[in-house]
Amino acid sequence: MNSINITEVIDKKKNGKALSTEEIYFFIEGVTNDEIPDYQASALLMAICINGMTERETYDLTMAMRYSGHNISFEDFGHTVVDKHSTGGIGDKTTLIIGPIMAAAGVRVAKMSGRGLGITGGTIDKLESIPGFSSFMTEEQLVEQVKTVGFADAAQTENLAPADKKLYALRDVTATVDSIPLIASSIMCKKLSSGADGIVLDVKYGSGAFMRDEDSAEKLAEIMKSIAYKAGKKCSYVISDMNQPLGYTVGNSLEIEEAVRFLSGREQSPQLRELIMKLCVEMYKLSDLYLIDDSSDSSTMKESDAEIINKLSGVLDSGKAYDKFKEFVSAQGGDLKFIKELESSEDYNSGYDGYKEELTYEDIVRLSKRKKKSPIISEINNKALITGIDAEKVGRVSLLLGAGRRRKDDEIDHGAGVLFRKVVGESISEGDVLAVFYTKKKRIIKQAERMLASAYELFVE
Ligand code: URA
Repeated sequence: MNSINITEVIDKKKNGKALSTEEIYFFIEGVTNDEIPDYQASALLMAICINGMTERETYDLTMAMRYSGHNISFEDFGHTVVDKHSTGGIGDKTTLIIGPIMAAAGVRVAKMSGRGLGITGGTIDKLESIPGFSSFMTEEQLVEQVKTVGFADAAQTENLAPADKKLYALRDVTATVDSIPLIASSIMCKKLSSGADGIVLDVKYGSGAFMRDEDSAEKLAEIMKSIAYKAGKKCSYVISDMNQPLGYTVGNSLEIEEAVRFLSGREQSPQLRELIMKLCVEMYKLSDLYLIDDSSDSSTMKESDAEIINKLSGVLDSGKAYDKFKEFVSAQGGDLKFIKELESSEDYNSGYDGYKEELTYEDIVRLSKRKKKSPIISEINNKALITGIDAEKVGRVSLLLGAGRRRKDDEIDHGAGVLFRKVVGESISEGDVLAVFYTKKKRIIKQAERMLASAYELFVE
């Protein structure tokens, strides 16, 4: 008979004591089997949020959630499989570009991505703005696609870390998301059960991230890395700035469009390219292309970061990564005619300033069903330098335009979002178009305009 009592477990954590491994497994089994009601699970989550967890407890919680469901295995693959995870941000389309670069370079990438919630976007929503694209894959289909194409990206299956799914839904409505042990265990249980041998973490800090400062991001990253190593996986991380949106677009189909422009070499935000290359280098270093012989002293044989960047830039700039992107989209049912249209539309031939002010209705319907395009014009009298664009505020604007969901079950408008025509480091004058809104919701444009205006930090010359 089980002598552990959930009320006593809650009381123990309320009083700041460490829970035993057995108590943590008891809690997670109870949540998975619906034997522990939401009110008791929420009480324990709040106690963890307030009093924290030791590294041992955080590891136990991760492993208990990992084994609450099924674990994918790439064991008999003959190659290392690498995964990349971002802790979430505004305009983060890195996966759409990194997966194809790595696969085209010969590194197998298996990813399970999430949907957006609140101000944070999700890769699955972005991919599903491509007509026909399916993110529902069986584990066998995922493994097969990683084998044949080199890259697959699927929505988290029902039986992958189900305890985390239930707890995350509770955390979302009980103000218990922002806890380092809860975030670390929630992310790592899914990463460990999705089977990759190497995990690269993009841990973000800033106004648009869970972690507001660099030190907390580093702390979260170190805990996640130590969990991975303890579980027998290789792991490294990049700490990245999420005080301003990443790249030129925020919104699902807009970000697909930016990824297509990036991969096809038409336009690349330098800020986005820099982060992509940093993450790619880390992924390469965890792959078997780099870890040629771990047992010998091969350090002198290994390529330098500059050599890896050179190699991967070649894959990107030659168009091989873009070909791989199309192969990946097609393998998951996505319509390549749509990608071709994004690539070859007249609007894409002369940079972002070449955007037509008015698309025809047919263009709008073809180009991802965008309904309303509204340019935001600078009203400043003098020349000014953009020194910041607050990512959190941009996230709120894009939510208002319809690109995100406030609750898990909300519908999103895949065509909605913001396109930035001026970014940090650029000068603006009166009458310049700062950004363009895409939305079906005409009524909220004025409110969104005010919100976006307050996101800009300017240095008036
Ligand atoms: N992403 C997750 O999967 N879990 C968290 O707790 C936070 C971000």
